[in-house]
Amino acid sequence: MRQSSLVVVSNRLPVDDSVAPDGVCEWRRSPGGLVTALHPLLQHMPATWVGWAGGTGPAPTLADIDGVHMHTVPLSHEDVQDHYEGFANSTLWPLFHDAVEQPVYHRRWWEAYQRINQRFADAAAEAAEPGAVVWVQDYHLQLVPALLRAQRPDLRIGFFLHVPFPPPELFMQLPKRAELLLGMLGADLVGFQRAQAAHNFAQLAAKVLNVPATDDQISVDGREVHVGAFPVSIDMAEMEALARRPDVVARAQQLRHDLGNPQQVILSVDRMDYTKGIEQRLKAYSELIADGHVKVRDTVLVQVAVPTRERVGQYQILRERVEREVGRINGEFGRVGEPAIHYLTQHFDRAELAALYRVADVMAVTPLRDGMNLVAKEYVAARVDDDGILVLSEFAGAAAELSQAYLVNPHDLDGLKLTLIQALRAEPADGTNRMRAMRAHLRQHDIRAWARDYLTTLDQTGSVAARLTVG
Ligand code: ADP
Ligand code: G6P
Repeated sequence: MRQSSLVVVSNRLPVDDSVAPDGVCEWRRSPGGLVTALHPLLQHMPATWVGWAGGTGPAPTLADIDGVHMHTVPLSHEDVQDHYEGFANSTLWPLFHDAVEQPVYHRRWWEAYQRINQRFADAAAEAAEPGAVVWVQDYHLQLVPALLRAQRPDLRIGFFLHVPFPPPELFMQLPKRAELLLGMLGADLVGFQRAQAAHNFAQLAAKVLNVPATDDQISVDGREVHVGAFPVSIDMAEMEALARRPDVVARAQQLRHDLGNPQQVILSVDRMDYTKGIEQRLKAYSELIADGHVKVRDTVLVQVAVPTRERVGQYQILRERVEREVGRINGEFGRVGEPAIHYLTQHFDRAELAALYRVADVMAVTPLRDGMNLVAKEYVAARVDDDGILVLSEFAGAAAELSQAYLVNPHDLDGLKLTLIQALRAEPADGTNRMRAMRAHLRQHDIRAWARDYLTTLDQTGSVAARLTVG
């Protein structure tokens, strides 16, 4: 058993097994913000990544990926149903995203959540050398910090939540609210995307657990747990380099040609998730065409929506509704060879995504709620010529940093339409000023700065037990 001084624990590993049409299992990079953030960061670090490889049954043995050891955790069919699709993605995910869909509570799911969190904690304990740093990620594993501390008090334990942390009014719905808070408080440092989330967490600790809590520090079981905001980011240099590659530049030109050389291309790239505001965006766009503000020949919308969590009912319903609406809009407003919406549900490699970002005059990122939204940051990174307009939801964590974007409330349909029109008609000089400012911000705050900031803080705030062992 290989042991490492840095162990990252997340439900999702950077690869996912997908079954190709010929029935052969192939490994590919999994979409999603967590993998986008962590994958470039860990490359060539002497680290172990503990996680699930996407299938069911015994854990597959994976080769190291870019020098990082993969320690796979098995999930059975029932574990996937009750832990991943159930408690994680039908209870916590909607609850933490403003309950834009109804969170579902089942006692059986909670049992599975505890069981699987214990399994991940055991795997992390096995993979960590004495005094190691273990960095637990996201809402699937909120009990792991306390479970791990119980068996390995020598470790320095960090927890980072990639999704929003809800206000007390919402979190209080959760039948197991105290248990979840205590699980997270097993860490030495609990990190969130935004200061508001840290504030919500501290308020809840005080209210539910009756412990002394400020927005930076919570006392529990004689330990001080540090709390803070660490907005996650992307590998800016990697995306810039990709966007400059001659084959990517040529591919972007080809894409524009294939789209019929329109005057303007609007792009959206989302996992097919009800938090992403896809339906609201399609409605706004179809009204803009119907009102005559947008002409199908001059402007095209490219909507990439890669399916995700496909066995969860709410996701199946969303996909049906999106596809029906795309069909309706294309049927009503498209012409032969000229659809109003180019709709793609495929999985793309990084170079193809970079080419798409290059071709987009306007990027519409309008989630109803999002912890961060790295697609918005990838777009800015890919605009190496300082042009392009980013339309960004106020309810994405990224809006706190990318304040020069065209900010919009996606629930306000008229506001969304107006902002899209303004984006399509923006003066190039205005766009350039905004893009330059956002690019300068991302250069300073890329994924390495995020990790440095978090891990340095964790290093300074390790528990007494960890300090004694690490020296
Ligand atoms: P979330 O984590 O909720 O999915 P983010 O915007 O933070 O949202 O991250 C999504 C990540 O998934 C981005 O890095 C994006 O490039 C990637 N992604 C989205 N759609 C696709 C796709 N069709 N093919 C490959 N990667 C994708
Ligand atoms: C979000 C979550 C991640 C998750 C990703 C993709 O970014 O915060 O934890 O990995 O979505 O979702 P999936 O269910 O495919 O892992």
